[in-house]
Amino acid sequence: MSRPLESKTDFAHCRKRRRVYSSTRLMNVAVIGLGYVGLPLSLQFARSGVRVLGLDIDPAKVDDCNAGRSYIQHIESAVIEQQVRSGAFVASTDFSRIREVQAVILCVPTPLNKHREPDLSYILKTAQCIAPHLHRGILVVLESTTYPGTTEEELRPVLEKGSGLKAGADFHLAYSPERDDPGVTTSRLGDIPKVIGGLTPDCLEQARALYGRAFKTLVPVSSCRAAEATKLLENIFRSVNIALVNELKVVYAAMGIDVWEVIHAAKTKPFGFMPFYPGPGLGGHCIPIDPFYLAWKARRHGQHTRFIELAGEINTAMPQWVVSRLAEALDARQKPIRGSRVLLVGIAYKADVDDLRESPSFVLLDLLKERGAAVAYYDPHIPIIRPTREHGHWTGTKSVEWSEKTVRAFDAVLISSAHNAVNYQELADWCDCIIDTRNAMAAVKTRPNTVWKA
Ligand SMILES: NC(=O)c1ccc[n+]([C@@H]2O[C@H](COP(=O)([O-])OP(=O)(O)OC[C@H]3O[C@@H](n4cnc5c(N)ncnc54)[C@H](O)[C@@H]3O)[C@@H](O)[C@H]2O)c1
Repeated sequence: MSRPLESKTDFAHCRKRRRVYSSTRLMNVAVIGLGYVGLPLSLQFARSGVRVLGLDIDPAKVDDCNAGRSYIQHIESAVIEQQVRSGAFVASTDFSRIREVQAVILCVPTPLNKHREPDLSYILKTAQCIAPHLHRGILVVLESTTYPGTTEEELRPVLEKGSGLKAGADFHLAYSPERDDPGVTTSRLGDIPKVIGGLTPDCLEQARALYGRAFKTLVPVSSCRAAEATKLLENIFRSVNIALVNELKVVYAAMGIDVWEVIHAAKTKPFGFMPFYPGPGLGGHCIPIDPFYLAWKARRHGQHTRFIELAGEINTAMPQWVVSRLAEALDARQKPIRGSRVLLVGIAYKADVDDLRESPSFVLLDLLKERGAAVAYYDPHIPIIRPTREHGHWTGTKSVEWSEKTVRAFDAVLISSAHNAVNYQELADWCDCIIDTRNAMAAVKTRPNTVWKA
């Protein structure tokens, strides 16, 4: 069995080792989970000359891929079609085809369960599914975001038990976090440096050979744990900094200071400052969830993660504060929330995406409805609300049409995400009570006392 890495400086040693495969033999990779992470990753490998087998339990996604139909807004159908036609990418639900490939990458969901604890069931089920088909020399890489120790303590035993093979001796095991920026075109994926940690030096070397085909810059670290911890640091960093500006937004608003103006001024500092922007709360599959993976694991080591908890508390309280600002704005027009018609603009969790997961817009809609408002939404990217894990009661609700008559019928408009496809000048012309959580109205001509930043 390969010896484990002893220190970060051990990479020279691993480079000198004889490779089990030359990089040209690492041609066939299976990507499991063809979602927001797995599909762009598959296409990145395919366009880099690696033949990709995409595996998913959802037959609709598999059919769409093979027909060259995109189900992710920022990926064009033509891009998928091109790779399918060239034979570089094929999708399937048949997991026994793992036998055909030299590497497997897992990109399955890692949500929180109803107690807000890590739910590794998708990873573990996938591992059980693929284990009987593993062969000697195969490389297995986990990309799903998770707490340090998952690859070694959770994934490894399931793979070993189901295959009868030993990780690090008979097959290679590694962890490499995904860093896709949703909404940004996939052609840039290969430019984003890729962090990789292996169970052993050989495992790391195999993972480097694979990812080196599709990514310009590789960032090897000493272990799977270090790679897992890197991803969590990145997302916790965002969560904490967003919480900081969210808190300052509330404090500065009480002082009559516009936090957006302050951030724009502060970011002119050429060193030691990085801008983060406030909003109506956290959304998406990563930032509201991933920090709690670490908090959970830290508790098992008797450690507290006070920054994570505090950031979670502040960010979670944002929708309440936004609704209180909306109440103030309506109050200024002698209207109560109860009975008012409120239009939420931008239901996706961030600008220019069609992703609804964990969107704070749902909390805003729920709070407003609870207080007796009649609510509706407009989102150019989400004509109808698809089923979500936590907000099923909104499933099937349709976006209103964008027209002067429709918008004028509302007492207030609440901007939750600032899509570029929305015409904010028209909004300014048609509505005299706008609650803006994204500073979207800053660039347009508005009338006095019609926009409330929140
Ligand atoms: N979306 C992002 O921007 C992003 C960024 C970085 C990291 N991540 C992480 O990547 C992982 C995947 O996230 P995502 O956004 O791609 O999720 P997703 O829900 O978009 O896609 C997951 C896919 O896995 C499939 N799947 C579920 N169970 C499966 C199984 N047992 N076998 C095969 N396929 C299965 C689903 O059908 C779906 O197509 C998560 O751990 C997430 O935290 C996501």
